[in-house]
Amino acid sequence: MSALHAAPDIFEIKHNDSAEEPQLKDKYSLGEDDEVVSQSDAPQESDYEEEVDESVREDMKKLENTFPGISDRFRLVNRIGEGTFSTVYKAEDLHYDAHKNDWDVLTSAQDSYTEPPSKRRRVEGEQAGRKKAKYVALKKIYVTSSPLRIQNELELLHDLRGCSSVCPLITAFRYQDQVVAVLPYFPHTDFRIQYRTFMVADMRHYLLSLLTALNAVHDHEILHRDIKPTNFLYNPELKQGVLVDFGLAERQGSEYASPCLCTHQSYARRSRILSSYFSKNPPTNGLSAGYPKNDSRPSRRANRAGTRGFRAPEVLFKCTSQTTKIDMWSVGVILLTLLGRRFPFFNSADDIDAMIEMSSIFGTRRMKAAAAMHGQIFETNIPTIGEKGYSWEKLVKWSSCVEDLTESELQATRLLSGLMDLDPSKRLSAEEALQHEFFTDPVHHDVKWGGHPDPDDSAESAEEEEADEADEVAML
Ligand SMILES: Nc1ncnc2c1ncn2[C@@H]1O[C@H](COP(=O)(O)OP(=O)(O)O)[C@@H](O)[C@H]1O
Ligand SMILES: [Mg+2]
Repeated sequence: MSALHAAPDIFEIKHNDSAEEPQLKDKYSLGEDDEVVSQSDAPQESDYEEEVDESVREDMKKLENTFPGISDRFRLVNRIGEGTFSTVYKAEDLHYDAHKNDWDVLTSAQDSYTEPPSKRRRVEGEQAGRKKAKYVALKKIYVTSSPLRIQNELELLHDLRGCSSVCPLITAFRYQDQVVAVLPYFPHTDFRIQYRTFMVADMRHYLLSLLTALNAVHDHEILHRDIKPTNFLYNPELKQGVLVDFGLAERQGSEYASPCLCTHQSYARRSRILSSYFSKNPPTNGLSAGYPKNDSRPSRRANRAGTRGFRAPEVLFKCTSQTTKIDMWSVGVILLTLLGRRFPFFNSADDIDAMIEMSSIFGTRRMKAAAAMHGQIFETNIPTIGEKGYSWEKLVKWSSCVEDLTESELQATRLLSGLMDLDPSKRLSAEEALQHEFFTDPVHHDVKWGGHPDPDDSAESAEEEEADEADEVAML
C-alpha cells in the first residue's frame, strides 16, 4: 500500500452565526425508528452506528478483504455515494491522532453541528463519553477508469488544496489496480430535499459558497466540467458547501484541437461563415425532415464530458476552445432549478434534445447566432420553436407557477440571465458573479414560496437519480 499524495492544507469552513432560521428543521427531528436517549446520558456521535443494508455491508466487507490494510486505518461505516466512476464510503479515521491534520478546520464547525439522527442506533458495548470519531469519505475509483483519468483527478485536487469551499484531498492509496482517495467527510443535505424549501436568502448562501469554490478553481485555470447539485455538497445549517468530484475536470487549453471559430475576431468569423458551403449552397426547398442518410460532412471532435441538462451551449455546439465559462452555465442551471422549483429543469435524452430545449427558451434567432459563433449552422423546422424566445423573468414565473416575482427573486433572475448567456465571452465569470448586486446589494424583500409540491414528484426521484448520474466522457 503506498500513499500517492498528501495534501495537508487549510480546509476553510466557517460557521455562520447569522440569525436566519435554518430551513430544514423538520428533517432533523427524530423519526419513529430512532432511539431516544435522555440528556444526561447523551452519547457522542461515535457511539452510534448507522443502520446499513445487508448488501452494503457485504460490499464494504469486500473492499476490506480486497484492499489489504484498509481496515487497520479506517472503520467503514456506510456507503454514501455510488456513481458512474466511483463508490464513496463514510469511514471513521482510526489513525487520526497519529497525523498532523492541517486540513481539518472543519472540526470546529462540525463540533457545533449535529448530524440528523435518522436511523441510527447505539453501538453495543461502547462507552458514552468516548472520544469523538473523525470521519472521512473514501472514494473508491473504479478500476475501469483509465490510470490517466485517476491521476488527473488526484493531481488537480492536490493543486487545489487550500481553496475555500473545495473539498481537500487528504491522501490516496493504491493497491494493484484499485485506488482509494481519502477526503474529509462533509455532512450535507440531499439537494432534492432542500431545493423546494429554499428562500432567496438560502439561494444566496448556496451560490456564494459555490461561486467562491469556482472562483478559486477557475483562478487555477481548471474547468470542473461537471457542476451539478450532487457534486456540490451543501450544508444548510452551516450555510456552507464543498465542491467535490474532479473526475472530469481539466486544465484550460489542454485539448489538442484546432482553435474554435469563437476565438477569432467577429469580422473573421463572418467571412468564414459567408464562404461556407452552407451559405453558398443554401437548401432550396426548405429543410428536409430527418437526418441525411450518408452524411459526408467531416465530423467534429470536442470534449463533451459532463452531465446532460447541465452542458453549456458551446459544449453542445462542439466548441474546441472551451473555457471555465462552461461551469458558469451549469451554475445558472442550478439557479434556474432553485428559482423555477423544478428538478431536473432540463430533461433531454441527448444533445439534440438539449438544443431543442434551449431553443424553446432562447428562440431560433439567438440559437443561430450562438451556433455560428462556433462555426456551426443551427436550423430547425419544429413549429413550436419561435424566433424570439422568452425572457428569464417569464420563464421563472411560469416554472414556479406564480404571477409575480418578489424584488429579491427579480434580483436573482438578473443574476440568472448573466449566468445563462449563450455567448461564453459575455457570460459572467465566477469573480464577476460574486460582484453582482445579488451579493453586494441584496434585496431582502422575499415572501415564503406559496407553491405546492407536485404530488407525483416523489415518484419521479428514481428517474431523476438516473438522469443525474448520466455522466459521460465522450469525444465526438
Ligand atoms: N467528502 C465527502 N463527504 C461526504 N459525502 C461525499 C464526499 N465526497 C463524495 N461524497 C458523496 O459521494 C457522492 C459521489 O462522489 P463523487 O466524488 O461525486 O463521485 P462520482 O465521480 O462517482 O460522482 C457525492 O455525490 C456525495 O453524495
Ligand atoms: Mg459526482
